Amino acid sequence: MEKKWWHSSVVYQIYPRSFNDSNGDGIGDIRGIIEKLDYLKELGIDVIWLSPVYKSPNDDNGYDISDYCDIMNEFGTMKDMEKLIEEGKKRKIKILMDLVVNHTSDEHKWFIESKKSKDNLYRDYYIWRDTVNGCEPNELKSTFSGSAWEYDEISEQYYLHLFSKKQPDLNWENKEVRKEVWKMMNFWIEKGIGGFRMDVIDLVGKMPDEMIKENGPKLHEYIQEMSRNSFGKHDLLTVGETWGATPEIAKLYSNPNRNELSMVFQFEHISLDKIPGKNKWDLKKLDLTDLKRVLSKWQTQLGVDGWNSLFWNNHDLPRIVSRWGNDKEYRVKSAKMLATLLHGMKGTPYIYQGEELGMTNVKFETIEEYDDIEIQNMYKERRKLGYSHEELMKSIYAKGRDNARTPMQWDDSQNAGFSDVKPWIGINPNYNNINAKQCLKDKDSIFYHYKKLIEIRKNSNNIVYGDYKLLNANDKNVFAYIRKLNEERILVVCNFYETTAIFKYEGNIEKEAEILLSNYKDSSTNIKELILKPYEAIMYKI
Ligand code: NOJ
Repeated sequence: MEKKWWHSSVVYQIYPRSFNDSNGDGIGDIRGIIEKLDYLKELGIDVIWLSPVYKSPNDDNGYDISDYCDIMNEFGTMKDMEKLIEEGKKRKIKILMDLVVNHTSDEHKWFIESKKSKDNLYRDYYIWRDTVNGCEPNELKSTFSGSAWEYDEISEQYYLHLFSKKQPDLNWENKEVRKEVWKMMNFWIEKGIGGFRMDVIDLVGKMPDEMIKENGPKLHEYIQEMSRNSFGKHDLLTVGETWGATPEIAKLYSNPNRNELSMVFQFEHISLDKIPGKNKWDLKKLDLTDLKRVLSKWQTQLGVDGWNSLFWNNHDLPRIVSRWGNDKEYRVKSAKMLATLLHGMKGTPYIYQGEELGMTNVKFETIEEYDDIEIQNMYKERRKLGYSHEELMKSIYAKGRDNARTPMQWDDSQNAGFSDVKPWIGINPNYNNINAKQCLKDKDSIFYHYKKLIEIRKNSNNIVYGDYKLLNANDKNVFAYIRKLNEERILVVCNFYETTAIFKYEGNIEKEAEILLSNYKDSSTNIKELILKPYEAIMYKI
């Protein structure tokens, strides 16, 4: 496989609104990010994926863009953005922009024009359809509840919005739309960015009349056209958000011969704790053997025809330590276990802000304290359907996106060192104990565990390129696998639960196993029979 810089890179995602407020308005900003670049350098990451910073009315916190070539006032100015790129470069940190082009804001000038009349020059930039028997054109649903069609009184047609009604979908069949997108991408490439994370990119080939959302027939044609006209001429990292991807689909995007993307985010593993066929709010307990099966499938099936991204968290997902670890007694141990499990795998790891501190989910008491449009819409819709308040809060505590969006916990001072004033969303009250200052002081912290994992990756071709093999697939408590490159083998053993577990290595061992990393000081090297303590995770060279 031809080596690429992003094969051995580690990406850190910043949700700017909640990262660091430099000007005391309660909202994180770009200068706030610049202040923390040295912190990120210390962690050892190479790339920042920046959630959207463009002009936006914030119906969906920046994922509704009203001007792609300008910066949201609360976040700063274009000069600040240029400075961030430049300061990043000094530290060898690249900036990945969030490319949100399935839809714009309804306050984007294209939509304002498009809405004016049926014969407006921009009408066809969006997806307009006639009423059918006095109703919506069809049954397509929005991800944020309700119909995906919104009626416009003025022109007496419906427009499509697969997200909120303030996020009208662009019509990718219109060549002019695609040209505008390439132009905008080149504007950012010229500014010296490191690449793009592509928001719901698998939706751009949609065929709404056929009820096809993901993976439409022209999707890959469009991505290849995008590559030819923008990033393909440069050495950039591109990662697509593709909820419906299977390994076969992921290879279409990331096979180097097809000139599409570097990699995609697949969400199969992250969907294992919901009732099959239902949506994320319908909770189900994770079965570890499912997780082993799914992650291992992704590890082995892409082969040399694709590349994986590795993640537990992002701004749409609950905090992993609360989700699949233990955010109480074993918070530190389980956060390190989950980190070890993921960072020993093949692919490009993504760390979401605060994950390196073991930040946890939040439980706001009232529904009003939640900001997220997805939570708010779901709550209203399900209350009408008869769900109880308690039951819905339980789902929100487990899966709500605001779990990931509470402010970054920098220290134990007022407002967690995030801001001088009360922030735009509540702070997790546990910031007194869980914060960056504390982690940086303690060489045994989760932060330094992540740092060590990154260092190991940087110094190991095996971690980056080695083969992967799952061990003991049916064991319900231990997740163990081997990475192998030439004669070198790395064994990763993780006890996923708080009960003691046994692991027996059945293969040949020529010399005593060497511990590269562990979350206990006294881990055993007797891999023929290991008695694993709660959440014990060990990486060995064997
Ligand atoms: C996926 C993003 O990650 C999410 O935050 C957003 O709400 C939707 N796409 C719509 O842009």
